Amino acid sequence: MESAANAGETLELTAPPRETAKGVRKQAASAALSLLPAFVDRLRWGNTHGAAELIEQMASALGDSYPGVAGKLRRYQTLKPVEMKLPADIISFEEPTARFTEVILPPDIERQLPAIIQEHGRADELAAFRLSPRHKILLEGPPGNGKTMLAEAFAGELGVPLLRVNYSGLIASHLGETGSNLAKAFRYAESAPCVLFLDEFDGIGSDRATSDLGEIKRITNQLLILIDRMPSRCVLISATNLVEQIDPAVLRRFDFRLHIPVPDYATRLRCAEAELSQRLTPGKDVSYLAEVVARHAFENLAALVQRCREIRRDLVLNAGQGVERLAAEEN
Ligand SMILES: Nc1ncnc2c1ncn2[C@@H]1O[C@H](COP(=O)(O)OP(=O)(O)OP(=O)(O)O)[C@@H](O)[C@H]1O
Ligand SMILES: [Mg+2]
Repeated sequence: MESAANAGETLELTAPPRETAKGVRKQAASAALSLLPAFVDRLRWGNTHGAAELIEQMASALGDSYPGVAGKLRRYQTLKPVEMKLPADIISFEEPTARFTEVILPPDIERQLPAIIQEHGRADELAAFRLSPRHKILLEGPPGNGKTMLAEAFAGELGVPLLRVNYSGLIASHLGETGSNLAKAFRYAESAPCVLFLDEFDGIGSDRATSDLGEIKRITNQLLILIDRMPSRCVLISATNLVEQIDPAVLRRFDFRLHIPVPDYATRLRCAEAELSQRLTPGKDVSYLAEVVARHAFENLAALVQRCREIRRDLVLNAGQGVERLAAEEN
């Protein structure tokens, strides 16, 4: 008995009360926040040296309580400011807030995602072993199962902008210009940590052997060089539903190739549960319909999500009279 009481006492002495740990984190955060106005002011006056000093102070204030954020601040500080103007006709600049949890994927793919992100968070440790984070990801699979969503979530998880390449701006009518536009897009992306997203990648990464146009061959060759030169702080994500059309040499460049398949029942069910969760239907509960919806072999998750949204819409506009019918309806 006595020893149990003693053990309790020892525990209390060694482990700091939770409140204290929380208090330390709070103090660290407010110390860093208090530097923010001065930081913005120095930036406004173009005083980059002064701004860098403040970044260092913020990083040391955050120190032990938020080592991830502190490390990121220090890393960013060593980068030069982006001087190149955004080539707005070729690239759209987005700051996504999407997260991996929003993208419903088969468990074997979901398991791989945190490891990819972790390499970037631990770039310094890798560098000590002369390694750099792997940063070229190919997302492939049939339409409508979350490739584009996943690319946005990668940027959201990494906390960097998503630079989405706009094909109509990229593919020029003048011969030779497409290649230089592509080079411009990569050059801009290389200025700072980001995700460079080439959606519908088959449009430019197509197989040189099957395309006889000299221009396409040149573009593919240029793409190979640009991919090879890309610094590891920039994550290249390409997405396609025509992977068989991608040039083998281009394919080989990717560090990760994630196949996003047509969803099975388990994936459909998780997606339907998320879309019909009570969180999204205030005052109503149609979560029991997730199982009914998931039983249909939808062509893709986009179609399933659309069906679930019809159900939610019916709750609002039709007092939910049609929900059972909508859930049971074949495709
Ligand atoms: N895995 C998923 N998890 C949650 N929602 C999904 C998923 N896949 C698709 N959706 C829904 O379908 C919509 C379309 O998905 P998305 O654009 O990411 O598909 P895609 O694979 O990029 O298709 P495409 O090959 O046609 O470009 C999403 O905005 C989302 O509403
Ligand atoms: Mg897409």
